[in-house]
Amino acid sequence: MQTFCPGDRYSKDRDEAEGEKEAIILIGNAVEEAMNEQIKNELFSAYQYLSMAAYCESENLPGFAQWMRAQSQEETVHAMKFYDFVLDCNGRVVLRGIDGPVVEFGSPLEVFEQALEHEKKVTAMIHDLYGLAVRENDYASQTFLQWFVTEQVEEEKNAGHVVETLKMVGDKSEALFLLDRELGQRRVEEQPAG
Ligand SMILES: [Fe+2]
Ligand SMILES: [Fe+2]
Repeated sequence: MQTFCPGDRYSKDRDEAEGEKEAIILIGNAVEEAMNEQIKNELFSAYQYLSMAAYCESENLPGFAQWMRAQSQEETVHAMKFYDFVLDCNGRVVLRGIDGPVVEFGSPLEVFEQALEHEKKVTAMIHDLYGLAVRENDYASQTFLQWFVTEQVEEEKNAGHVVETLKMVGDKSEALFLLDRELGQRRVEEQPAG
């Protein structure tokens, strides 16, 4: 029996010989491929932010480092959302190689400017993925991706806020010290179930 699914793939017999089990694949090849790529992109984000955390530690800014460490953990959660969604659709997760992160930065401001630029790129990736799901008539993926569309607004806002604050701080070390204490309050947000 063929069951309707988005994209160019409809169903696959995983155990046709014995006629026992037919896995219905609810994700088309193109969206599956793009989601696998996005798992890699989110894990690269986690790696990049961990590298930024390490730089902040080396600059004696433990609060900035904590903020980046929490950001890195959130990116891992994002990767796992894609991972689980592909599996929920009976798709195949195929992990890819991750490029090395940037490791040297000129200043805390440069770190957060690069973080903001990075998030803008990720926003474009999410929008491309959403556009693909629309073209493929993949409604489940569109609904899934809406969370990420909203999340990217938050991501750009948060990084942009720190960039603006750091510009105001300038070279005032007392203000930098206070900002470091404030950013150090950040913890990884609890993920809602489901
Ligand atoms: Fe992300
Ligand atoms: Fe992000």
